[in-house]
Amino acid sequence: EKGGYDHFMLKEIYEQPKAIRDTYRGRMLPNEGLIRMSGIDDNMSKFLNADRIIIVACGTSWHAGLVGEYLFEDMARIPVEVEYASEFRYRNPIITPKDVVIAISQSGETADTLAAIKLAKSKGAFVFGVCNVVGSSIARETHAGAYTHAGPEIGVASTKAFTTQITVLSLIALKLAQAKGTLSKSAVNAYLQTLQQIPNQVETLLKTNEQAKEIANVYKNAKNCLYLGRGFNFPVALEGALKLKEISYIHAEGYPAAEMKHGPIALIDENMPVFVIATSKGHYEKVVSNIQEIKSRSGKIVAVVTEGDETVKEIADHVIEIPDTEEAFTPLLTTIPLQLLSYHIAVMLGKNVDQPRNLAKSVTVE
Ligand code: F6R
Repeated sequence: EKGGYDHFMLKEIYEQPKAIRDTYRGRMLPNEGLIRMSGIDDNMSKFLNADRIIIVACGTSWHAGLVGEYLFEDMARIPVEVEYASEFRYRNPIITPKDVVIAISQSGETADTLAAIKLAKSKGAFVFGVCNVVGSSIARETHAGAYTHAGPEIGVASTKAFTTQITVLSLIALKLAQAKGTLSKSAVNAYLQTLQQIPNQVETLLKTNEQAKEIANVYKNAKNCLYLGRGFNFPVALEGALKLKEISYIHAEGYPAAEMKHGPIALIDENMPVFVIATSKGHYEKVVSNIQEIKSRSGKIVAVVTEGDETVKEIADHVIEIPDTEEAFTPLLTTIPLQLLSYHIAVMLGKNVDQPRNLAKSVTVE
């Protein structure tokens, strides 16, 4: 049932081109600039009249929500807040009927996310679900929604759920931008064309698997790792760190690259691998100077760069190249090598990749 792969996690990493394609298939017509999502179409006035969108989720789904914040604000100019469901539900939040809440959950069964939805509904908010499991509790409890079409995710560490959640959020952001007129017709069209290239680009990136294995072999005995990214790739840094810690039990932290000088830089020495996302768009020069700061303190640098990059290649110890795309879609690509790295490190350390200790696939307790 693992389809020839050693683990479900690796199988699911490799399923991402298909999962992403299945998630947008039938929903977009790039030549006509149309995005069909009945859950949004039927409730468009709620989205357009919303004072703000509140995204609630846990774990990896919360990281996808953070990417969603960047997408919605950048494309559709709607204010967004992203909340851990567990904090939101217990802090007496201000919610009104003019709020739209988007709940993101792979399993559709996460107890805290479900409770956050019930709270938001009781205050009159419109609640939209982004779930992977059809007919799950969260899918049933929300007023409307859009499914991710990742297929069953068995590995406890979420991989294809994350990239398909970002795919759905991208479609929603573009659809709202189209309806609000915050992006021109041609701009929406260009985004849709670019999104259609992502599955093939992920396919290409999966060919870096051997390279990921080599890099994993160099850093597998690290005790601590840092992950840095900016803008759209700050959430990817958080997700990269989560993926490593949950399956390899190596302590890892994700930070916005510019925050390094406010504390974490004190940790940098020759024993600290730093994984940096340094794609060509999105504050590239700033990230390059962050990389130089790490280098001058003898930190080891593994950089994810855009193909053709020369500057970072000169400084970093290892570089993994991603194909070029719109900055807004880079998380769909930069995530892939970080998944592979975590996977190989955990395998080399002999850990139970698909069922890490202390974790369950769906967290139905608070
Ligand atoms: C991480 C992971 C968890 C889940 C979290 C939310 O790899 O799997 O952090 O993302 O428990 O689960 P869902 O999305 O099912 O609500």
